[in-house]
Amino acid sequence: MYKKFLLSALLLVASTHTLVVSSQEGVKLGVPISEGDLTQFDLIAGPDGSGFPAGSGTARQGKEVYDRNCAVCHGTNGEGTSGNTIIVGGNMKSEGPPLRTVGSYWPHASTLFDFIRRAMPAIAPKSLTNQQVYQVTAYVLYMNNIIAQDAEIDATSLNDIEMPNADGFIDRSHIQ
Ligand code: HEC
Repeated sequence: MYKKFLLSALLLVASTHTLVVSSQEGVKLGVPISEGDLTQFDLIAGPDGSGFPAGSGTARQGKEVYDRNCAVCHGTNGEGTSGNTIIVGGNMKSEGPPLRTVGSYWPHASTLFDFIRRAMPAIAPKSLTNQQVYQVTAYVLYMNNIIAQDAEIDATSLNDIEMPNADGFIDRSHIQ
């Protein structure tokens, strides 16, 4: 009796295994992701200071990067070429609806770095080097009167920048 049970249990395991293997082989969905591919997604640079690459940059250096890669959509001075490409301006004290620019909306400078690194320029995301991302981030902050033209930003100083709208969001991170 015991032997019979063991045998059928083994058969069950074997046939389930065959099923799983054959369904994996049969469907052939995608390819295993490589470590190299993963680094293209693992880009999170957060306000806690983690996830930043090596490098640094100033607004003075970033102007050239901006003029070449960004101005075509965001305008020479960040004034935008359409409603959602305005990145400079806005007044937080105004009673009208807030303008969604870096100066009047974004609460953390780290988010700006992270966003530019992963999503901009919109026609060729991730085409800039980390050094260029630091430089152009500094330039966008400079155009918004948040930092000086020669202030160097890097992994540490970026998180020390006080953004005008730093207190404009409700922190719900403690709610699971
Ligand atoms: C081909 C056009 C194009 C180019 C080039 C481009 N962007 Fe953008 N960018 C956009 C669009 C469109 C949005 C709005 C995306 C959205 O609302 O989801 C945007 C959004 C942004 C935002 C967020 C604006 C906000 O407050 O919501 C920033 C910051 C930004 N871009 C920076 C850059 C920088 C820096 C470069 C150059 C390295 C660049 N962009 C190049 C089209 C472009």
